[in-house]
Amino acid sequence: MEQQRVAGIGRWFDDYTRTFLDTDPEGLGNILLKIEHTRKVCAVSDTLAAGEGLSANEARIAATVALLHDVGRFPQYRRWRTFRDSDSDNHARLSLEVLAEHNLLDGLDPAERLLVEEAVRFHNLLELPERVGSPTRLFMQMIRDADKLDIWRIFLELFALPVEQRASAATLDLPDLPGCTPACRDALLAQRVVRLDQCLVLNDFKMLQISWALDLGFASSYRLLLERDYIPRLTGTLNGELEIGAAIEGIRQEAALRANDCNT
Ligand SMILES: [Fe+2]
Repeated sequence: MEQQRVAGIGRWFDDYTRTFLDTDPEGLGNILLKIEHTRKVCAVSDTLAAGEGLSANEARIAATVALLHDVGRFPQYRRWRTFRDSDSDNHARLSLEVLAEHNLLDGLDPAERLLVEEAVRFHNLLELPERVGSPTRLFMQMIRDADKLDIWRIFLELFALPVEQRASAATLDLPDLPGCTPACRDALLAQRVVRLDQCLVLNDFKMLQISWALDLGFASSYRLLLERDYIPRLTGTLNGELEIGAAIEGIRQEAALRANDCNT
């Protein structure tokens, strides 16, 4: 894949997303959030590609995946006014639909095209399917990590705002009450990723985001996570005393270990 091709897809992304800007202020906030998210995911993806020693061609494939992984978010929001997949449609599937509609990957080397499509398709799954081998796995893991590393930024910025100024679709409309759901706390205490379908209040969702720190695939991702101080910063936004201090400390220690582990 040539650099020119990546640049062309970048220009297409700008043109495509511009068509969604003509909407009401609430909608505009939500659309702009996803445009900025994509740009930052691209930047993180470049950092990870460099940190993990990807070849120039592999880095271009990763950059393409980063640009395209969430394009389904735009028609999703236009049609359903939500980013909640369970109330609309799987946005990764919608992204693939957009790519097909716009013939965006036509002419690409078929093997590379498949790598891009598979990474987009699986970027939002709770867990990567086990049967996936390399090199598909590399690109799937990279977009999943880059996505999480920017989603943490988005939420920390959102949580710093008064509720009425938060992009409404981003926090999934969960009530910001003290306390948390026992199933979510149990998952965190067992050092497992919290399930979205068990999140009933905003604290659960914050715990889900903290638990993502157990699910990164590269030492470079863990280094960025620690550099950006995401775990303590997210913990600081929890509402009330949840008695999860030991679980958080366990996650922080695990992240520090993995940041230094070249074979993560
Ligand atoms: Fe996504």
